[in-house]
Amino acid sequence: MEDRRILTAGMRDEDRDTEPKLRPERLENYIGQENVKENLRVFIEAAKQRGEALDHVLLYGPPGLGKTTLSNIIANEMGVQIKTTSGPAIERPGDMAAVLNSLGEGDILFIDEIHRLNRMIEEVLYPAMEDYVIDIMIGKGPGARSVRLDLPKFTLIGATTRIGLLTAPLRDRFGVVHRLEPYGVAQLKVILLRSADVLKVELDEDGAEEIARRSRGTPRIANRLLKRVRDFAQVKYDGKITGEVARFALDLLEVDKMGLDYIDRKMLMAMIDKFGGKPVGLDTLAASINEESETIEDVYEPYLLQLGYIQRTPRGRVVTKRGYDHFGLTYPEGKE
Ligand SMILES: Nc1ncnc2c1ncn2[C@@H]1O[C@H](COP(=O)(O)OP(=O)(O)OP(=O)(O)O)[C@@H](O)[C@H]1O
Ligand SMILES: [Mg+2]
Repeated sequence: MEDRRILTAGMRDEDRDTEPKLRPERLENYIGQENVKENLRVFIEAAKQRGEALDHVLLYGPPGLGKTTLSNIIANEMGVQIKTTSGPAIERPGDMAAVLNSLGEGDILFIDEIHRLNRMIEEVLYPAMEDYVIDIMIGKGPGARSVRLDLPKFTLIGATTRIGLLTAPLRDRFGVVHRLEPYGVAQLKVILLRSADVLKVELDEDGAEEIARRSRGTPRIANRLLKRVRDFAQVKYDGKITGEVARFALDLLEVDKMGLDYIDRKMLMAMIDKFGGKPVGLDTLAASINEESETIEDVYEPYLLQLGYIQRTPRGRVVTKRGYDHFGLTYPEGKE
């Protein structure tokens, strides 16, 4: 189901056309994630020098931070083909075997949402990842026998937003494991200025800063907001995105100066008003704002935790002083 919020980090229909255009294709245009890039650069260089396939790579982290983008960049840098599939798309072991069998020497197999592979399919992957072989059953019944097939040396790149759901044996078979982190405002600005170039929109420093600040550390959101602001700039102004235009448009879209929207504000205000800033249990909070507990946990809460506006305590969630400050409210001292 598509999230109705303009600020969701997940993919929305409106992103589908532009995202491929905005994806950087080389490591040098991939902004931020310095540590990840540094490591990958070395591994890629080493693999190329030895003329070998790159070690299997696992990328994890919240949606919209660049896992798919980075996987495609790795293929470009290695100069190999990339085949893309996803956990839920592979239903039977035979599907997995067919995909593996179609790979060429050194190719990359990208499995998105790899935590959603079922166990039987994982088991096909183990020998494939370790020894580049698959075991296929030939025939049925008592005469059935297993035949071992050699695969080309390939690289598996797995991506997941839920590393905790990956089984240990699968996780352990990745030689390179990287977590992508939320982006800082400065990095998002660079991404936005580049996207503006690609989209042929005029965006000044102030405009980029304003959008970056409200993008929740997520390039996908930054690019989406850029497109929305562009529409305002075109219709209401002369097409150029300045700080003033960005502020005007984003205020109208109800994305506030820290990138909170009405649901974030509703949740924080409920915690402050209805519960007087005291710890609230997740289910109570969910009921009070008419949302599912899981949605709060997976979708709304992470950014508020990241900003340090709320905290989890053993007795429940509390709004911090920073959270109060956001609304210009006085923090009830001596409460914690
Ligand atoms: N480091 C980056 N530099 C520049 N642009 C980026 C970067 N990371 C992501 N983007 C932009 O953000 C968009 C979303 O990134 P991407 O699709 O790779 O995220 P993802 O982590 O795969 O998300 P999901 O978990 O939903 O699959 C890309 O189309 C790209 O334009
Ligand atoms: Mg992706």
